[in-house]
Amino acid sequence: MKRWTVAPGKGIETLSLEESPQLKPAAGQVLVRVRAVSLNYRDLVIAKSFYGKGVKQPRLVPCSDGAGEVVAVGDGVASVKAKDRVAGLFFPKWIEGPPTLEAHQAGLGGELDGMLSEEVILPEEAVIRFPPALSFDEAACLPCAALTAWHALFERIPLRPGQTVLTMGSGGVSVFALQFAKAAGGKVIATSSSDAKLDKLRTLGADVLINYRERPDWEKAVKEATSGKGVDHVVEVGGAGTLEKSLSCTAVGGNVALIGILAGQGSLSNPFLIVVKNATVSGIFVGSKEHFSRMNSFIEEHSIKPVVDRVFPFGHAPEAYRHLESGGHFGKVVISLE
Ligand SMILES: NC(=O)c1ccc[n+]([C@@H]2O[C@H](COP(=O)([O-])OP(=O)(O)OC[C@H]3O[C@@H](n4cnc5c(N)ncnc54)[C@H](OP(=O)(O)O)[C@@H]3O)[C@@H](O)[C@H]2O)c1
Repeated sequence: MKRWTVAPGKGIETLSLEESPQLKPAAGQVLVRVRAVSLNYRDLVIAKSFYGKGVKQPRLVPCSDGAGEVVAVGDGVASVKAKDRVAGLFFPKWIEGPPTLEAHQAGLGGELDGMLSEEVILPEEAVIRFPPALSFDEAACLPCAALTAWHALFERIPLRPGQTVLTMGSGGVSVFALQFAKAAGGKVIATSSSDAKLDKLRTLGADVLINYRERPDWEKAVKEATSGKGVDHVVEVGGAGTLEKSLSCTAVGGNVALIGILAGQGSLSNPFLIVVKNATVSGIFVGSKEHFSRMNSFIEEHSIKPVVDRVFPFGHAPEAYRHLESGGHFGKVVISLE
């Protein structure tokens, strides 16, 4: 059995393909033959810099997101069986209800070994069947990027038909947010640094397109597009570098789902903007199995297909990382083990 490991914080060049002993599930566990893994921005951060003191050291099997086939189950496992097509949970212990400290302290590909391995052992409750219409490559995109977008738009302050949503850039989370928002009857204002990517966002249904490189004052363009009102929901993947602008183009009573750090970490110089907008700013950290289950039903109902940018073979994982790092991708970057 082969698996990739990385030295967290020491760089993509520390990725190494290793031979590892065959695995056998204990009671309550399942053995999954991984067929596809998708990369997230978090995987880059973990490989290259500091993601948190809980990250497994000195070496870690990276990547939170994978899908595969159950090949064996341990004693007492009743909810899944051999041949079931499943995805792993980003937080194996966040099954339902509100987030807990215990669940947050155990993420795949972070505190725990992840999915970039030919086989993985997971607790029975930490896998979920995915919509049958999806391929393994597509299903591997769900556990982090899709679930985060879902949680942001439907689990806290649910998006209602006719409301406006701002998405930022064309990475994994943002493209899912666009697809989900359109399927729910929302109007989407999408930004990107690239006109070619804006064209693709248009094809996916984006109603208003803004090139944030050409319009550094993109928040004004968002306000113009909403007749001065601002948007009802922001899927905020930029973080400190964009939050002030996104708050300024949020509607009164609007909802900012704070998710990412693409535009840097830091502080908000004018928190009073949240007050004068009567806005809700919600920290969103992936989601629970319960959320995943509702998202799967929505994906099936609306025949949503994850947008896969490129698929790399298992032996070429470092190239997949480099591709994500380049920012040239649109949607998700996948590593296939087929
Ligand atoms: N809280 C959570 O649970 C959670 C879950 C998933 C991801 N995240 C975070 O969310 C962010 C996005 O993750 P991802 O995996 O979707 O990333 P990704 O796929 O790597 O997306 C990167 C894309 O974001 C866009 N972008 C980069 N800098 C930007 C900026 N300053 N303003 C607007 N857009 C920018 C670019 O799109 P264009 O080329 O189109 O401009 C870039 O290609 C990351 O910070 C990640 O850590 C958080």
